[in-house]
Amino acid sequence: MQLHEKIPNNVDLAGDRKLQRALEHWQPSFLEWWKQIGPEGFQASGVYLRTAISVDTTGWAHFDYVKMPEYRWGIFLAPAEPGRSIGFGDNASQTAWAEVPGEYRNLLRRLIVTQADTEPASVEQQRRLGRTAPSMYDLRNLFQVNVEEGRHLWAMVYLLHGHFGRDGREEAEALLARRSGDPDRPRILGAFNAPIDDWLSFYMFTMFTDRDGKYQLLALAESGFDPLARTTRFMLTEEAHHMFVGETGIRRVVKRTCELMRQAPDGDVRSLGGIDLASLQKYVNFWYSVSLDLFGGEISSNAAEYFACGLKGRANEKACEDHLALSGSYRMPVPEGGRLVEKDVPLRNAMNEVLRDAYIDDNQRGVEMWNKTIAEHGIDFRLKLPSRRFNRRIGIYAGLLFTPEGEPMAREEFDRRRDEWLPSEPDRDYVRSLMQPVIEPGRIAGWIAPPTKGINGKPLEFEYVRLA
Ligand SMILES: [Fe+2]
Ligand SMILES: [Fe+2]
Repeated sequence: MQLHEKIPNNVDLAGDRKLQRALEHWQPSFLEWWKQIGPEGFQASGVYLRTAISVDTTGWAHFDYVKMPEYRWGIFLAPAEPGRSIGFGDNASQTAWAEVPGEYRNLLRRLIVTQADTEPASVEQQRRLGRTAPSMYDLRNLFQVNVEEGRHLWAMVYLLHGHFGRDGREEAEALLARRSGDPDRPRILGAFNAPIDDWLSFYMFTMFTDRDGKYQLLALAESGFDPLARTTRFMLTEEAHHMFVGETGIRRVVKRTCELMRQAPDGDVRSLGGIDLASLQKYVNFWYSVSLDLFGGEISSNAAEYFACGLKGRANEKACEDHLALSGSYRMPVPEGGRLVEKDVPLRNAMNEVLRDAYIDDNQRGVEMWNKTIAEHGIDFRLKLPSRRFNRRIGIYAGLLFTPEGEPMAREEFDRRRDEWLPSEPDRDYVRSLMQPVIEPGRIAGWIAPPTKGINGKPLEFEYVRLA
């Protein structure tokens, strides 16, 4: 088989013998990993998948039945911008780097490895979901997300192999050796070590955690290291689908819940096999808060350094006025002696918080869509995002207790009210009890509404997965 058939790419792999050898060597390990720890079951089924075969719009339109282990994981960079210069930090307006600058090698490697590690981690977390899919449409979407996370791993490994020599090859091996949730060799970031065993959590993950991914990628898309900027730009086009799965998935659950609320004489949707709005709110509180942690500390010298060096910018840096960010500050409530005190933090040290702000706004838009659905059913309830201080494990609010409104509170009261705000064991048991597979074409589980349209113009009854 020709190389471009095995590894479709727009990085002239055929002309780079060294890179070719490194990737060809890595590919069997990747496939071994996929078969061992990728989606459980369905590996022999034909899945109606979208494959990227080029970066133009027609390359994107490629849909066909593919067995997942035969998916063509490719390497694509967004087209180069001729004469691109660095857009921020101390190196602003220098020509963007085509190679890794020696003095930033370790910082860049850490950035790339941290991003890379989340990609296989999420495949591992989601591996058991296929068994309980609420419809064939959803089953197909799960696998689309999974193969694309696999491709994101390829995208990052390309950077490691292509630009970090032997160290990079070792990091690429290590990416296949760590395991989500393994006590001895866990994935790097906390949120990527919890299994995702129910579909409500899957939609929450793709809504909130994949959206963290979007903002990390937007910040890296500004990088002065041009191959990283171009790689992440293309990844963003795939990430959009993952968030679509999450946002519309939750919207469909909300819709079904509202329908059932109108049917249940006393409004008890659980008696009709639905997920009550109060439980949905608790899942939102949980997944939103663990995803906020992924942005890192509110006051961060690492973030300042990444920005100063021109390695990681802000989302849509071009729209910012001052690309040096040396003079500004960011005002935030900082815990001090049990109270919150407003403090001015030098802007560069607050870059994680700046990125978190953009992320929060984006989530808010999604929540408003869900609330529109609730309002359309004439139901007096609104979902909301909790305060950014609620339930945090990382940053200045970690280890402290806050209400979902962000008010400091004592341990005793928090413990007493915890189950009002976060999913309790009985809530989780209930949600898990609903997870019965429904995978005949056109059918759908009772706790979720059907999608408003199918994939690539196909109807809901389409056979999105040809079960083997
Ligand atoms: Fe990804
Ligand atoms: Fe994703």
